Amino acid sequence: MPKTFFITTAIDYTNSPPHVGHAYEKVLADVIARYHRLKGENVFFLTGVDQHGQKVQQSAAKAGVPPAEFVKDITQKFLDLPKKLNVVYDEWAETTSDRHKKVVQGILQRLFDEGQIYKDKQSGYYSVRQEQFLTDKERGPDGQFGPEWGEIEFREEENYYFKLSKHKEWLLRYIDNRKDAVIPDFRQTELRNAVERISGDLCISRPKSRLDWGIELPFDKDFVTYVWFDALTNYISFAGYDSSQSTLSSQPSTFRDKWPALQVIGKDILVPAHGIYWLIMLHAIGFPDDQMPQLLVHGWWNLGGAKMSKSAGNIIDPFVLADKYSTDALRYYLISDIATGQDADFSEERLIERYNADLANSLGNLLNRTLNMVHRYRDGFVTRTGGESPLAAQAADLVRQYDRAMSRFEVHTAISRLIDFATICNTYVEISAPWKLAKDPERAGTLDHVLFVLAESLRVIGVLISATLPTASHNIFYQLNLPDEFKLSDATWGGLPEKHRLGKPVPLFPRVETT
Ligand code: MSP
Repeated sequence: MPKTFFITTAIDYTNSPPHVGHAYEKVLADVIARYHRLKGENVFFLTGVDQHGQKVQQSAAKAGVPPAEFVKDITQKFLDLPKKLNVVYDEWAETTSDRHKKVVQGILQRLFDEGQIYKDKQSGYYSVRQEQFLTDKERGPDGQFGPEWGEIEFREEENYYFKLSKHKEWLLRYIDNRKDAVIPDFRQTELRNAVERISGDLCISRPKSRLDWGIELPFDKDFVTYVWFDALTNYISFAGYDSSQSTLSSQPSTFRDKWPALQVIGKDILVPAHGIYWLIMLHAIGFPDDQMPQLLVHGWWNLGGAKMSKSAGNIIDPFVLADKYSTDALRYYLISDIATGQDADFSEERLIERYNADLANSLGNLLNRTLNMVHRYRDGFVTRTGGESPLAAQAADLVRQYDRAMSRFEVHTAISRLIDFATICNTYVEISAPWKLAKDPERAGTLDHVLFVLAESLRVIGVLISATLPTASHNIFYQLNLPDEFKLSDATWGGLPEKHRLGKPVPLFPRVETT
């Protein structure tokens, strides 16, 4: 079995419905997955939902329904999201599933048996309202805990701890030895600095009296495991990992063929969750260094410079945007107006502006005018012509640049090169002026050549754009009257048949009029 390109997204908390930030992460991962499928690679794309935990328990209580019922509703919205966005995944992770529970408990038991998990007593100030222990970070400038914490009491609580700090030196060495452990570079530096500061172990449990919406510890039924041992394990439990096998080489081939993964996560969950806890968890259960996942860390979509959050009431609903402007319009905006790794500010005006300028006026117009001219001047037929065209060289250049940008996950650069190429093609139309050539019978050969070059350019664009805007790509191929099945290697110049009849022009991206 050839190795599979394995990609995951973070699993989304089911305490509130999806927003445009969740949509971005899904689309980013989908574009990368589609690009690898286009290269002819076997792809396994895993995404899903994080259903347990305190926040869910609290939200469910507020809504007056049992947590299981509450997560069902929100999970459905997260299931609807990829459908709406045309995001195609191979496996869906739900952390309440038995398959997942079994793996989480298997790992916990193993670590417990090996002495990597121990019980200890914690004492400190506890907020009854927020149901958490407070640290000095939560104190206000006056040194007191603010009124938002409600009643504060001194508590002693027993919990289970994972020996995190014992692996600190290993993690430092691993990061130093692997330059692309985290992308982009500045996030790897951020992680390195955070690892230096590791002190103490990780509390991995909550007494059931405080939280019962979680996976029970296999060695103590009075506790559930809290957040990370549950959530992070999804990346292997849904990829076929067998927790009864302690070495990677004894894992089923279905798992070994996939692992390690490229993990797409937001900047907020690199430190400490993925960069520290997850890598150390994997190391502790026997994953060798060359089997550590690579972390691709994206930035955030903000609103007016501020974080989007349900409590701030500034959530942007991706379903509304996709219905209003089309899925491809939303995908295009989310992918092109943010540089992978950086933050961006969401603006509906900007979405419309980019759609009209790049998709309607540039790419859509190119397809429409090309097809119209081929029908008007040549009864819908394009004929392969000899002779060099500067666009052939530009197209080859585009394929190289596109491939380079995509393999570095710089999807915004890849798509922008593509739109630049469409603009160049439109300039080519202006310069070669087919409407003038059509009036001069002696220049019939030149007209054939121009029309062929344009149709061929559109075919190359149609191949490349399929990773980003699958519906547009499908429509381009439909209008070019070509089969919608291709690989990246088909973006090579000269793929159009000798004599080929194009389909009818239909506006690809109708302009969005604003009044
Ligand atoms: N459940 C945890 C992750 C567990 S992974 C084992 C979680 N969930 S989340 O719903 O809060 O966030 C899910 C993903 O969406 C994260 O990668 C997060 O960074 C991303 N985003 C949340 N808000 C975002 C924006 N405003 N913009 C871009 N991505 C954002 O964290």
